[in-house]
Amino acid sequence: MSYSDKVIDHYSNPKNVGTLDKSKKNVGTGLVGAPECGDVMRLQIEVDEATGVISDAKFKTFGCGSAIASSSLATEWLKGKSVEEALTIDNMTIVEELSLPPVKIHCSVLAEDAIKAAINDYRKKQGLEELVFEERI
Ligand code: FES
Ligand code: FES
Repeated sequence: MSYSDKVIDHYSNPKNVGTLDKSKKNVGTGLVGAPECGDVMRLQIEVDEATGVISDAKFKTFGCGSAIASSSLATEWLKGKSVEEALTIDNMTIVEELSLPPVKIHCSVLAEDAIKAAINDYRKKQGLEELVFEERI
């Protein structure tokens, strides 16, 4: 299988690897696993509570190159977006940007699910209702 230059770039030089302080009320953490392969992704957002804008995003992915590239790209896209705007990042946009092959689509789903989980964790900490997302196959 051949990977696109963008995958290789994000994989060999991932952006925003790391950890944000989970105990902070304005930090949301999403931890998701892919049933397809057992890979695990943790993605965190830090929200400026005054503006609702995501000021920082970090990830740690124990998984394949495409999952690492997807989460690296996702954290880049998250920064500077409002929490509402962040919900518009869907896995197919990641697939297109990275030109992921069909067998690697679930790696991008992992990133979308991690974003949603991080947003819900943030909402819960803010005393807001958690959002309900459609189940995937
Ligand atoms: Fe082995 Fe993803 S299946 S790293
Ligand atoms: Fe499973 Fe990429 S192979 S996340």
